[in-house]
Amino acid sequence: MLTEEQNRLLTEVEGDAPLGHMMRERYWIPCARSENLVADGAPQHVRLIGKDYVAFRATDGRVGFFDEHCPHRGASLVLARNADCALQCLYHAWKFDVSGKVIEVPSEGERSEAFAARVRLNHYPTFEGGGLLWVYLGKGALPPRPPLPFIDLDPTRVWVSRTVSPSNWFQGVEGTIDSVHVGTLHQSWISKHFGGGKGAIAYALDSHPRYEVEDTPYGMKAAALRTLSDGRQYVRVTTYVAPFTSLVPGGGNDRNGTIFIAVPRDNHSHMLFWGFWNEDGPRMESEKQMTVGERDPNNWVRINQGEDHRWGQNREAMAQGHFSGFDGCLVDEDLVIQAAQGVIQDRTKEHLCSSDVGIGRLRRWLLDEIAAFEKGEPAGHSPVTVRPLDKITEPNLSWRELA
Ligand code: FES
Ligand SMILES: [Fe+2]
Repeated sequence: MLTEEQNRLLTEVEGDAPLGHMMRERYWIPCARSENLVADGAPQHVRLIGKDYVAFRATDGRVGFFDEHCPHRGASLVLARNADCALQCLYHAWKFDVSGKVIEVPSEGERSEAFAARVRLNHYPTFEGGGLLWVYLGKGALPPRPPLPFIDLDPTRVWVSRTVSPSNWFQGVEGTIDSVHVGTLHQSWISKHFGGGKGAIAYALDSHPRYEVEDTPYGMKAAALRTLSDGRQYVRVTTYVAPFTSLVPGGGNDRNGTIFIAVPRDNHSHMLFWGFWNEDGPRMESEKQMTVGERDPNNWVRINQGEDHRWGQNREAMAQGHFSGFDGCLVDEDLVIQAAQGVIQDRTKEHLCSSDVGIGRLRRWLLDEIAAFEKGEPAGHSPVTVRPLDKITEPNLSWRELA
């Protein structure tokens, strides 16, 4: 249970909220799928932390990232023309290069250059990695790139979808640390895709593992520990890289897994980037297993808005034995449950239990990080790439040494 003040600190990002301020100043923020940015193609609208932006790829492949509205009289640059290495506003045809410099103001004729030199459009630094565009919205020195194992991978080894979710970002992140729900909420999906299997996922259905959590400078490791019938220990460690990302182990080693990145658009919605990476081979295998039919990777889950408090649930399927009644993709189940907690969950009214140890530590970690940020203390980043862990070990071996 949190106080009202703590709940606000962890959920609100807009305006002067300390969390939003910290996200802008201290972290690269993933904001769009790289493949949606086509040279001379349509500019993309991006909403982050309560503000609107436009991203585009210029003729020469470079990416520009600006405030959405034209500095002349505020027309949206999402509608702009994109050609000749410049965005051109439709309203009065002002032109901007990728650095946000005004390069043409047609109405000013010969004075165009002098006039343009006095105006500037806010421009933000970006880089591309892991199939995503990342932006820095702060005013300080650029932070290090996030220490994620998929960020420099060949595009054939990483795949990420995008969904806009109608709930606060922190419900998204908490859902990824809460590994207990995998064996309940997702049980029908798991038995459909891995039914009868003796692999790692089958063990994940065992609902009584031991949970242990450890803070790290960059976030947290959350371990689920199970004793196998031969006495050995099965270790699954989800890695949280603050503030947006969780890496859930795949199977057999630490070089593949599932990516969950929950980025706040504003206080009331977030963008989920969900996908897979495999450092040793094509990512298609796991993707194929998880994909249900043909879905738009830019709009992966189309969530029914829930006016009827039912969210499109199929009671007929439940009567036939489906546990949740959301019989598409497991991410459908996640997003519905998160949105149905309330747009911003009221954490002053909850009752945590022993399996919520990771949730409690996650909140503590982030509250401490916000306090440290407000005191001006440096952020904890990892100098090396971090990974989740999926391993069978000798009994009682400390997983902390391995992960
Ligand atoms: S509003 Fe953009 S050029 Fe006038
Ligand atoms: Fe889930």
